Amino acid sequence: MMWAIILHGGAKEIEPEEAEAHRHGCLKALAAGRSVLQSNGSAADAVEAAIRELESDPTFNAGYGSALNADGEVEMCSALMEGGELNVGGVSIIQGVRHPISVARAMLHETEILLSGPGARRFAAERGLELCDPADLIPPKEQKAKQTGTHDTVGCIALDMSKRLAVGTSTGGLDGSPVGRVGDSPQPGCGYYVDDKVGAVAFSGDGEHIARKMLAARVMHRLSADEPEGALQDALDHVAAIGGEAGGIVLTPAGEFGWRHNSRDFAVAFQNSDRDSPEAFTRKGDAS
Ligand code: GLY
Repeated sequence: MMWAIILHGGAKEIEPEEAEAHRHGCLKALAAGRSVLQSNGSAADAVEAAIRELESDPTFNAGYGSALNADGEVEMCSALMEGGELNVGGVSIIQGVRHPISVARAMLHETEILLSGPGARRFAAERGLELCDPADLIPPKEQKAKQTGTHDTVGCIALDMSKRLAVGTSTGGLDGSPVGRVGDSPQPGCGYYVDDKVGAVAFSGDGEHIARKMLAARVMHRLSADEPEGALQDALDHVAAIGGEAGGIVLTPAGEFGWRHNSRDFAVAFQNSDRDSPEAFTRKGDAS
């Protein structure tokens, strides 16, 4: 029985001195997701486990270490989707929760697909999820990797042994953005999508450009007829045509991986049940 997992730590510029932190963080997150899949856990649980690790690592712009908005506050967006029943859970501009991905996970079986702001935090509290002071998500400066690019949403896709696919995204948004701004990451068809019959995709990058071009929807439409990287390249051509930068990952129901970016760098890690060890790439041209 096959399993597979791919994740990314953001489409951005990664300076040489930041490469190891990105590689280490991606591999740690991959290990968390892999361990769920190897124990016959669900794809959704694997995605949540992997993204919780990325949200705990200040190297990445998600959870602890998120970008700060124009008021110097952290507002986060996250989504999780399952490809069988097309269950969708999302939160946007949520504050004061440790793991937005777990709030999105808890939303999966609700009628609503997306809760915002105080309503999202109230939902998290009602579900007993971990709350915190919003300021506790801002690490001391020396712990935070330099954000040389602003496009560093994290994302993960998993295929479990029951052939179920799930995808998740999590982001602190863009540095200095207006209070209340929402990008592509919690919007299905923009920053992510999954259908067990077709495959799954997650993007990182310029949220407004990704949403305008509905990048995830474009990839899904092409995936039945095209290779993962061809479908991703077509989407990137569309976003580049309006001046946008992005990176995307794909996983098909057959376990084929794809990843592509027009940002300078893109931190990615992946593994499946046929590989003894994971592969990870951080800066352009680097290999694990
Ligand atoms: N891609 C993340 C954002 O634009 O918020």
